[in-house]
Amino acid sequence: MRGNGGDFMAEASSELEGPDFQKGCEIENVADGEMLLGHAFGEQVLVAKRGNELFAIGATCTHYGGPLAKGLMVDCTVRCPWHHARFDLRTGEAIAAPALNDVACYEIEKRGERFSVTGKIDKKPVRKPKLSPASVVIIGAGAAGGAAAEMLRREGYDGPVKLVGADEFLPYDRPNLSKDYLAGSAPEEWIPLRSADFYREQKIDTLTKTSVEAIDTQKKQVMLSDGRSLDYGALLLATGAQPVHLRIPGDDLPHVCYLRTLTDSRRITEKAKNAKRAVVIGASFIGLEVAVSLRERKLEVAVVGKVSLPLEKVLGRELGNLIRKTHEANGVKFHLGRTPAAIRDQNVQLDNGTKLDCDFVVVGIGVRPNTGLAERTGIATDNGVLVNEFLETNVPGIFAAGDIARWPDPRAGRIRVEHWVVAQRQGQTAARNILGAREPFVMPPFFWSNHFDLHIRYVGHASGNDRANVSGDLKAKDASVVFRSGDNLTAVASIGRDRENLEAEVALERGTEFHTA
Ligand SMILES: Cc1cc2nc3c(=O)[nH]c(=O)nc-3n(C[C@H](O)[C@H](O)[C@H](O)COP(=O)(O)OP(=O)(O)OC[C@H]3O[C@@H](n4cnc5c(N)ncnc54)[C@H](O)[C@@H]3O)c2cc1C
Ligand code: FES
Repeated sequence: MRGNGGDFMAEASSELEGPDFQKGCEIENVADGEMLLGHAFGEQVLVAKRGNELFAIGATCTHYGGPLAKGLMVDCTVRCPWHHARFDLRTGEAIAAPALNDVACYEIEKRGERFSVTGKIDKKPVRKPKLSPASVVIIGAGAAGGAAAEMLRREGYDGPVKLVGADEFLPYDRPNLSKDYLAGSAPEEWIPLRSADFYREQKIDTLTKTSVEAIDTQKKQVMLSDGRSLDYGALLLATGAQPVHLRIPGDDLPHVCYLRTLTDSRRITEKAKNAKRAVVIGASFIGLEVAVSLRERKLEVAVVGKVSLPLEKVLGRELGNLIRKTHEANGVKFHLGRTPAAIRDQNVQLDNGTKLDCDFVVVGIGVRPNTGLAERTGIATDNGVLVNEFLETNVPGIFAAGDIARWPDPRAGRIRVEHWVVAQRQGQTAARNILGAREPFVMPPFFWSNHFDLHIRYVGHASGNDRANVSGDLKAKDASVVFRSGDNLTAVASIGRDRENLEAEVALERGTEFHTA
């Protein structure tokens, strides 16, 4: 089972929890609007009740194995407590990323006051799209592009789908590249999201190591780096982002690394194998996660950040402090309020003259959206590709999703974020809209980040000016930081309160009151 910097599923334990649903169970044991964990046919099963209806689906999230029984039931869905994937209770279908595979769906038999689970059933709906473009070309085979390609098929589109990616690999689990994979605790097989066979079976034509160089919106063609061109009926731009590069003396030395791709992560791993000391430049999410992974590899790690407190701008002072202390307690040395002045073979020199000895350097000072192609095509951009609520650009038939898209969030206004779950979900929504669904993208943004034993779930989108109030005990890792603008809830960052973070998600969606424990 895959993990996520400690979000491990308990090793497939032989101990099955809860009642045996095959033997039967009292209906009144499941409260209305609640879920009950039990088992049937040797697997954990979740039974949920809504009015007079009972549902039974697999209890283990297909993303990283999160325990769905600890999640939240919302209408006819259950949301995973770890990274907020959503499953349909009626069918087991994975209806919102990051889970891409469905969970099992079971038949329930009611007899008098009791029910029992009698077997697995396939209730997957067969769908037919409203629109069927002549072909769909997806530019960028990352989180958004991969999720979009799959969704086109799930929605019943049977025309040609081309997934064109500059990377040498098919879509993979990018968030893992700074976490378990870099720490050396994730095997290679966790990294690809799908096998090459999957794309073949789905008739998704994948072109790796191929960039789209230009788009001709008149001829409805894209020009590829290998000289070929492809016709498109509809187009999805999902070109992601790339690391901002340092511009200081020594920035091009061979021991200076960046982290965006699988190749980058492998390169850092190779350097770490023969190293004792590393300097990480940048105290934001990627830099700090790299610091965690390199500490897990027993390297001495110094982090240089121009901020006075890591992540304070995003997560608030209290949580920023906790993150700093957690890193320090695990041996990370911070040099905050400092910038690097020069990189040399054996050290990094800071603006105050301090020299930090190191064998290699990892730079994580932010990313820039890959909007060049859109700009050259005349598609409207402004710190990202501008899209409407349906994720369509100003050029009809051309959609954008993921790190490049700036969309009108119903709560935060026009925003662009760099979150895995948002990119995948936008890919999914864009795919449905390419097929005529006219579905606005309204889900609150969500991301997670791991720092040793601190697992942060963040839902919503706060601006730097929002008020942050801590509810609970941060030191005990049982707290939520609640962000508000005036009286309006804008975001909630939780530690050890995964269910509360899901409740915040619902409050954001519905504009209802949110109360912490
Ligand atoms: C190391 C790391 C850890 C992360 N951890 C987290 C996390 O814990 N939680 C979280 O929420 N987010 C995390 N993120 C952010 C998350 O991975 C991104 O938000 C997400 O991948 C964005 O998806 P995307 O599809 O927009 O872009 P990408 O996944 O970057 O995919 C874009 C693809 O487009 C390709 N491409 C670019 N230009 C062209 C072109 N012209 N032609 C063809 N192909 C092109 C690129 O090669 C790339 O493969 C992390 C990111 C990194 C780098
Ligand atoms: S484990 Fe369920 S969403 Fe990640």
